[in-house]
Amino acid sequence: MYVCICRAVTEKHIESAVQAGARRLRDLREQLGVTEECGRCAKCAKQCLDGAVEQACASTCGSVVDYAYTPLQIAA
Ligand code: FES
Repeated sequence: MYVCICRAVTEKHIESAVQAGARRLRDLREQLGVTEECGRCAKCAKQCLDGAVEQACASTCGSVVDYAYTPLQIAA
């Protein structure tokens, strides 16, 4: 899916940029040109960036937020 029509940037481009180290919208702007023209892609680009960063982080270090985690209660 195209994220930035003006620069023909897709989700795959963003995923590749994240794999190459992009972590902020500024990084995507510098590397891919997203938001540099009309700017309408900013919100979607940020969502794609966040998703790709989360995915890259989970596959790299295996850390995933476990919302079902309940810490042990230690009786005093
Ligand atoms: S859609 Fe990205 S700058 Fe226009």
